[in-house]
Amino acid sequence: MDIQFNNLRQEKDHAGVVFCDQNCRLIGFAKKLDQLSKKHISQIIKGDQSFQSRNSKHYDYTIIHQPENLKLTKLYIFKLKKYKEYSVRDFQILGGHIQSIIKFYKEEKIIIYPDGITSSKVSFMSSVGELVLGIKLSSYEFNKYHTKKDSKNKNRKKIKIHSAQYSRILKNSEKIDAISDGVKLTRDLVTEPPNFMTPPKIAENAKSLESLGVEVKILGEKEMKKLGMGSLLGVGQGSIHESQLVVMKWNGSRNKKKKPIAFVGKGVSFDTGGVSLKPSNGMEEMKYDMGGSAVVIGLMKALAGRKAKVNAVGVVGLVENHIGSNAQRPSDVVKSYSGQTIEVLNTDAEGRLVLADALWYTQEQYKPEAIIDLATLTGAIIVALGDEYAGLFSNNDKLSKQLTEAGEIEDEKLWRLPLNDRYDKMLNSPIADMQNITNGRGPGSITAAQFLQRFVNKVPWAHLDIAGTTWTKKPMPTSPKGATAFGVKLLNRLVSKYYEGK
Ligand code: BES
Ligand code: ZN
Ligand code: ZN
Repeated sequence: MDIQFNNLRQEKDHAGVVFCDQNCRLIGFAKKLDQLSKKHISQIIKGDQSFQSRNSKHYDYTIIHQPENLKLTKLYIFKLKKYKEYSVRDFQILGGHIQSIIKFYKEEKIIIYPDGITSSKVSFMSSVGELVLGIKLSSYEFNKYHTKKDSKNKNRKKIKIHSAQYSRILKNSEKIDAISDGVKLTRDLVTEPPNFMTPPKIAENAKSLESLGVEVKILGEKEMKKLGMGSLLGVGQGSIHESQLVVMKWNGSRNKKKKPIAFVGKGVSFDTGGVSLKPSNGMEEMKYDMGGSAVVIGLMKALAGRKAKVNAVGVVGLVENHIGSNAQRPSDVVKSYSGQTIEVLNTDAEGRLVLADALWYTQEQYKPEAIIDLATLTGAIIVALGDEYAGLFSNNDKLSKQLTEAGEIEDEKLWRLPLNDRYDKMLNSPIADMQNITNGRGPGSITAAQFLQRFVNKVPWAHLDIAGTTWTKKPMPTSPKGATAFGVKLLNRLVSKYYEGK
C-alpha cells in the first residue's frame, strides 16, 4: 500500500482521520477544523453518548458526515485514551485499527492528521512511523492464485498523512518501508504453496536481495556433499527438489572488519515427516515449516533496505522432507559437517538435522559475535506456550535479555526455557555420538534445543522455537490470518537497539 505525506491542509473528496483525548477534547489539526466548522465537530462529539461511554484503549471512534464548512467529506474521530502513555506497539495497533475501519467503510481517499498525538515514551517521529507501519502490516493481502477479478479485491486505497512536519516524516518513512517490505517478503514466502516455494525457489528469492547490496552465496547438493554436510543432506534426499544452503551477507557497519551478528533459519519447504510420516490431518500446515528461513530472508531485506549500520549474516538451510525410495530411514546414521555422527531415530525430527550443519557452517565461516537461530522446531512448544510466546533457549543471559526486551517492544514475545546437561544426556546414542530424538516422552522443545547446542561452539547463541507463532488462525491487530512474520520486527529491533552503529 502506498502512503503519501503532505503539509497540513484539507483536500476535496477525501475523508479525514483526526483524534481527541479521553475527555473528547480535539487534538492537533482537529482543533483547526473545529474552528473552521464553527464548533460543529466539538458539539457533535459532546452530544454523542455512545462515543462518550465506550472506554477501550484506542478502539472508540465516531463518524461525522458532511461536516459544516469543511472540504473533507467525512471525519473519522478516534478517541485515544491515555495516548500520552502510548508505547511503540500502541501506535502500531492504532495504525492497524485505523486501517481496518477504513477498509470496513470502503474509504478510498483518506487523510490522517497525526499532529499532537505525542507520547512521553515515543518521539513524535517514531510514533508516526509506527502508526504507518501498523497501517502497512495490517493491510497485507495475498491473492495471487485467485483468478476471478472481484475476489482479487484490489487495494486501491490512497492514504495520505498530513502534518506540519511532513518532510521529516517522509524521510523517516524510508526506514518504515524497509521493515514493512521485509515483513511482506517473509509472509509471501510462507504463504506460497509448497509446490511453488521449493528450496531452489526460496534460494532464488534470497538471491533477489542482491539488488539491495546484499552478497548472496548459494551452495547446492554437490558443494554441500564436498563439505560433508551429511546431516542436512540426509533430510533432503527423499525429495526431487535440490537442497540448498544460502548465505546472505550485509556489511553495513562503518567498521567493515567487525564480527557479524548471525541469523540462521530452518527452511523445510514442506515437512511430510519423511518415512516417520505425519498423520494427514493438519499436514497442510507443514508448508510453513520454512518459516525460520523466511524470517531470516525478510530480516536481511529489512536491514539492507534501511541501510542498517551493522554487519549481519543470514544463513538458511533449505530442504524438503519428503518420502521416496531414497528417503532416509529411522535408524540411519549420518555424519554432520561438525564431524559428529547422528543416529536418525525419527525422520520427522528433521529441523535440528538441518540446523546442525547450518549452525556449524555459520560459526566456522563467519566467526560471529552472536548467533540467533529461528525454527518451527517442535510441536511441544505449542503445548507449552500456545501462539502467544515463542520459546527462547540460550547459553547467554545478556543476549536473552536483549531479545526478550526487543520482543516486548514489538509484541513478539519470548519466554525463556532452560538448558541443562541433564537434558543433554538424554540424547546419547548407543551407536553414534547422539540420536535425534530422546527415548520415551520428554520435554521435546528442550531436548531439541539441547541437540542444537551440540553444534554451537561457545559463541553467544539463542534459539527461537517459532512453531506456534509463525501462523495465526485468527486476525491480529497488525497481522491478518495466516503468516505473521513473527521475528522480523523483533530482530530488526534487536539490531537497531543493541548492535547498530557501535
Ligand atoms: N515441523 C515440525 C514441528 C512443528 C509442529 C511445527 C507443528 C509447526 C507446527 C517438526 O519438524 C517436527 O515434526 N517435530 C516433531 C519432533 C518429534 C518427532 C521429536 C514434533 O514436534 O512432533
Ligand atoms: Zn518434522
Ligand atoms: Zn519440521
